[in-house]
Amino acid sequence: MKTKTQDHVKFILSEYAEQFITLAGQYDGTVHSCLELERVIDQYSAFITNEANQEVWEEIHRDESGDMNQLAADLRRHSARCVGIMEKYRALKLLGGNAEMTDYFQNIESCIEEEFGGFRLTAESKVLMIGSGAFPMTPLFIAKRTGAAVVGIDIDEEAIKLGRRVVDKLGSGLPITLAKVYVENLEYTKEATHIIFSSTVESKYDLLRQLHPITNEEVVVAMRYGDRLKSLFNYPMKAVDAHKWRLAEVLLRPDHVFDIALYTKAPSGGSYDEQL
Ligand SMILES: C[S@@+](CC[C@H](N)C(=O)[O-])C[C@H]1O[C@@H](n2cnc3c(N)ncnc32)[C@H](O)[C@@H]1O
Repeated sequence: MKTKTQDHVKFILSEYAEQFITLAGQYDGTVHSCLELERVIDQYSAFITNEANQEVWEEIHRDESGDMNQLAADLRRHSARCVGIMEKYRALKLLGGNAEMTDYFQNIESCIEEEFGGFRLTAESKVLMIGSGAFPMTPLFIAKRTGAAVVGIDIDEEAIKLGRRVVDKLGSGLPITLAKVYVENLEYTKEATHIIFSSTVESKYDLLRQLHPITNEEVVVAMRYGDRLKSLFNYPMKAVDAHKWRLAEVLLRPDHVFDIALYTKAPSGGSYDEQL
């Protein structure tokens, strides 16, 4: 049975979808509309990680999954676009001499430390990040902390250009390369020991499939994802071909906007369950 709380949550979610569309449309390559976007994304992050909203979301989803699936898909797409723009704002502000941090970024940055769970990074690691964004905080953090080489790729030319300037400013001399290139055309893919997928890359599981024949046998893949309520802000986990990839570890972080699934290659001839 529908309750007032369910109606209220549905109303809030529809409002977020509207706001994301408006805010994305206001991006003009300057920081003019950044405060409002940051405010809405911070609120949305808090909404997504609130346990009470999780329960209401489950109830709504049970009752009317058809409508909700469409709203969830819209929210995911619009919020992903806005997160990309927020990284651009952050880059523009840093390059303009103003670098404060919003709650969303604090949330993300506190995740990076645990990214590979038991599969530690060392100075010899070769990391590939797919969807490095305009403010490449993961490449910067990894290169600074571990000394590992990091290549970040992105489909957005503006994100790559801003990202390079951010790296020059915050991590000059660090072994970080950013490029607008497809993973299958990147020589480095073969050498990568660790690969990270941004959570907001829609095609991440298609790309994981493509990566299998062009990566080495020891590679570890960190797939950022969000299921249930978090799927309103992230592309969710999908089953993988058990003859190709093995789900080795899942890092669930209730207070964070996304969780992380770690995949390694399935030994050839082996047979594994698709999910842990
Ligand atoms: C803004 S970052 C978000 C990073 C965030 N920390 C996360 O984990 O989702 C996501 C970036 O992924 C990029 N992106 C989306 N689809 C992609 C793809 N298929 N290949 C490479 N980059 C992609 C976007 O252009 C965007 O800059």
